[in-house]
Amino acid sequence: MRVEAITGELELADSTLIVGIMEGLEPLPGSEEEAGSIDAEVLDAANFEGKPGQSLTLPHPQARAVLLVGVGDEISFDSLRAASGNAVRLVKTPRAVTLLSRVGLDGATRAVVEGTLLGAYSFRTYKSDPEDNAVELVQLVEGDADDLAAAVLVSEATNLARDWVNTPARDLSPETLAGLIEAAASDAGVAAEVWDARRIEDERLGGVLGVSAGSDRDPRVVLLDYHPDDARHHIALVGKGITFDSGGLSIKPAASMMEMKDDMSGAAVTAAATVGIARLGLPVRVTCITPISDNAIGGDATRPGDVLRPLEGPTIEVLNTDAEGRLILADGLALARRAEPDLIVDVATLTGAARVALGDGIAAVFGSDRDVAARVLDSASRAGEEFWEMPLFKGYRKTIDSDLADIKNVAASRYGGAIVAALFLAEYAGDGPWAHIDIAGPARARETTGDLVKGASGVGVRTLIELARGLAAEDE
Ligand code: BES
Ligand code: ZN
Ligand code: ZN
Repeated sequence: MRVEAITGELELADSTLIVGIMEGLEPLPGSEEEAGSIDAEVLDAANFEGKPGQSLTLPHPQARAVLLVGVGDEISFDSLRAASGNAVRLVKTPRAVTLLSRVGLDGATRAVVEGTLLGAYSFRTYKSDPEDNAVELVQLVEGDADDLAAAVLVSEATNLARDWVNTPARDLSPETLAGLIEAAASDAGVAAEVWDARRIEDERLGGVLGVSAGSDRDPRVVLLDYHPDDARHHIALVGKGITFDSGGLSIKPAASMMEMKDDMSGAAVTAAATVGIARLGLPVRVTCITPISDNAIGGDATRPGDVLRPLEGPTIEVLNTDAEGRLILADGLALARRAEPDLIVDVATLTGAARVALGDGIAAVFGSDRDVAARVLDSASRAGEEFWEMPLFKGYRKTIDSDLADIKNVAASRYGGAIVAALFLAEYAGDGPWAHIDIAGPARARETTGDLVKGASGVGVRTLIELARGLAAEDE
């Protein structure tokens, strides 16, 4: 599907005209004229009140149809994006003309493009019927062409991460995922290196080796480096890439395993964001490191009680093989530190506890200090993603002291599990600025609404790109 910005006289023949309606049945500013002919009694009869998620298709004198979408009681980046997503899925004609972009709000083009391209996402690889949404072209009335082009790149990066995450583990081994990331990176002009099992052994990445030991599928580590000449900042992104998390010998119950193909979402999100940043040409250097492994139960799987030696930092007594993300991230963070960035950000579907705390809609953010966390939160809010700061409470650190090794990978109690996991990672992140984003809840959307389509959400891609954008803007 394509999007384009248009100006001048509207050509509506055969199109669906998309008009936003506020709660109270006011049309959005910029849509009054086209909405003029709409009869309030008809809306009333259809119980259409302009609430978010509501819609109504009516005949229109010039267009094939007019599609009214509820915007709610405020005009914002978020409400326009959601309305655009809800609208695009209901269009039945190949062409739609949207008036949501003519609302006169700064950033409206971006919101409409993201809502449209993300909301129209659909993963059909495994469907016999390749039929998708009917719409092929969405025209944004008075859209800003530059904003549109940038928002297309951001949306494509998000949908790229969604494709990877939605792919079943059978078809996405560590080798396959590494290859897909490498190809996408090279395509975007990002230098990519893939370490195979042999190289991972030579480099002594004991965390990755410990997790992959139980699988017939060899691990990989992908190292991306986007290094533009004009870069004045350098961020390192680290993403958890567990292609399937069975729990290992500390095996998961069946119900908890159903969604564990998602467990490489952190790798998908960080790699796709790197691709997006490169495609946007942002003047920020990005080092992206994605340790990728299966977590299975083969005969030589790591056993509870085994000790791992990661690349750097404390030796680890593994007491629960299901707390595997932190083991591969220990190596990933050490590699990130070696690149000497100004800031490290890791993204991981790390703990069920983060999902318990914040639910499926909100990502948990931990910062080495409050300023780092604030920077990430601010990027998220500008990007329209829901993030919430959690405390890196040092008081819990002693719960992962180990009798045998330097540290153990789980505490005796499961309470505060997201915090304990973050404290574990802090041991490997070094003393510099570092943020940890736990997306165990929002990595998967449980319903289709607004810009979200049931399945992989790609959450984090937009925030990471926005983070780079914010750093780039600091120099201007
Ligand atoms: N991949 C899971 C976390 C997860 C849970 C992601 C639910 C998405 C949805 C992670 O590897 C894990 O199993 N964590 C354990 C840690 C525990 C053993 C300390 C958990 O959260 O139960
Ligand atoms: Zn696990
Ligand atoms: Zn996991």
